[in-house]
Amino acid sequence: MVLMQFKEGTFMPKSNYFVRGMEREDIGQVMNIEKSSFQFPWRKYNFLRSLDMPHAGLVCESIKGGGIVGYSVFEHENNKLFLLNIAVRGDDRRLGAGRAMIDKLKAKRWTREIPAIETMVRETNISAQSFFAEQGFKANQVLHDNYDFLTEDAYVMRYSPGKLAPENRLSGFFKGVYMR
Ligand SMILES: CC(C)(COP(=O)(O)OP(=O)(O)OC[C@H]1O[C@@H](n2cnc3c(N)ncnc32)[C@H](O)[C@@H]1OP(=O)(O)O)[C@@H](O)C(=O)NCCC(=O)NCCS
Repeated sequence: MVLMQFKEGTFMPKSNYFVRGMEREDIGQVMNIEKSSFQFPWRKYNFLRSLDMPHAGLVCESIKGGGIVGYSVFEHENNKLFLLNIAVRGDDRRLGAGRAMIDKLKAKRWTREIPAIETMVRETNISAQSFFAEQGFKANQVLHDNYDFLTEDAYVMRYSPGKLAPENRLSGFFKGVYMR
């Protein structure tokens, strides 16, 4: 049996994943995933700058080994955790790594009594919208023509248990998308 050595972090219950804080030496692996996941990837300095803010980056490793399978970057705004970036290595998707990182953020939200987690998703990124919807996020705002290099809207998706999302045209649209 191979015993994996992990740095300080959390084994996420009911998953095969271990989630810990991102460190500078992780950035090479993180950049490889970033470049293969996004049309307009973050640069190395974006990640380095994030690491200067405490608790701003998480990486996810499988208990079976094989390096970093995913990462997320978030910041603590006044009354919410704002998720700036999340990605999982292509071959490791749909195996629960993304959920493990969101569960870790939910735990942080709980212990710090922060009411919500929020993120922004491109209008065309249906798989990410489905992922966040499955984690209990609800779309509650449209930011029109939100991106510098794209002509595309963004949806603000918010996790805020106990608070009902407004019933409006956007919530109606999302019910249609996810209940098909
Ligand atoms: C979005 C992302 C981080 C999800 O990570 P993941 O590890 O694949 O997600 P999980 O395996 O934890 O998925 C949990 C659930 O979310 C939903 N989900 C995840 N990906 C989905 C997809 N492509 N289509 C539909 N539902 C999806 C499913 O309900 C899934 O559970 P299931 O596999 O048992 O059906 C990953 O797809 C990714 O890296 N995408 C590219 C980068 C990106 O778009 N990031 C988001 C920017 S806003």
